[in-house]
Amino acid sequence: MSIQVEKVSYTYLQPSGEKVEALKDVSCSIAAGDFVGIMGHTGCGKTTLIQLLAGLRAPTSGRIYLNGEDINAKGYDKSSLRQKVGVMFQNPEYQLFATTVEKDVAFGLKYSGLGPREVTARVRWALETVGFDFEKVRNQSPLALSGGEKRRVALAGVIAVRPPILIFDEPIAGLDPYGRENFLNFAQEMNQAGTTMIMVSHNMEALAEYTKQLLVLEQGRLLGAGPTREIFTRLQQRKNGVFGETEAQRIATMLAEKDLPLSSGILTYTDLLAVLKQELAGGERE
Ligand SMILES: Nc1ncnc2c1ncn2[C@@H]1O[C@H](COP(=O)(O)OP(=O)(O)OP(=O)(O)O)[C@@H](O)[C@H]1O
Ligand SMILES: [Mg+2]
Repeated sequence: MSIQVEKVSYTYLQPSGEKVEALKDVSCSIAAGDFVGIMGHTGCGKTTLIQLLAGLRAPTSGRIYLNGEDINAKGYDKSSLRQKVGVMFQNPEYQLFATTVEKDVAFGLKYSGLGPREVTARVRWALETVGFDFEKVRNQSPLALSGGEKRRVALAGVIAVRPPILIFDEPIAGLDPYGRENFLNFAQEMNQAGTTMIMVSHNMEALAEYTKQLLVLEQGRLLGAGPTREIFTRLQQRKNGVFGETEAQRIATMLAEKDLPLSSGILTYTDLLAVLKQELAGGERE
């Protein structure tokens, strides 16, 4: 399922009457099956863009198309969006509300047309996919879980619907390294199975390693869009290139300054290790 964003702007009206232009004339497209990262400084409009993609807000101007259909057009079945676009917002652990984990995860399936047995099977699958023992956790109160566990329950609720597009707003912020890798590998597997993934993150390493395309926002404008490697290279060449640099890029730059220039195009630790290994092997031969 593809997404087209056409000249989209969004203005918030604050209680004081002040207007905040959160998005300005943003156009981009996301192909079906892609893994897209959204990056940019805090307040640049990432969450707003996601809310628009999920149909939770309508653009002040411009259009958003899902498979060619304008999701804000009169007559578009907005309730069907829930089955098409799954969103996990920042701090999803605060969104759990049902009395049991099972009910919470099943909530999104209310209008799916599935029968009760199918719903249970789907909830089991979702909870097991995020690493829970279904029988153990199904009757627990979500409130009695740890923060990380709550987040996994929220994730189960989103994937239970099996939407073709999954959007994650800062999914790995606050997770430990194990939880982070677990989530990212999960996202990659879902993507390889055909789900279109969109992930907002401030984590340059995760964006570099996992996404295929990047959208960069700066103060509500789209600063760049394209293949992840190209975008990182372009960002590094900007004068104030501190933003949008991975650790591996930084290390490669530092080594170059110490007269150890490595081949260009180092973006991830995997790249850096491969090049260093090659250098060391070359050194031994001399
Ligand atoms: N409900 C709201 N009412 C008024 N202004 C808002 C509202 N939500 C966001 N804004 C403003 O819109 C702009 C974009 O906010 P948004 O939440 O989309 O940024 P973000 O890129 O997701 O930031 P972060 O990285 O901190 O999550 C900000 O200037 C913010 O102050
Ligand atoms: Mg945000």
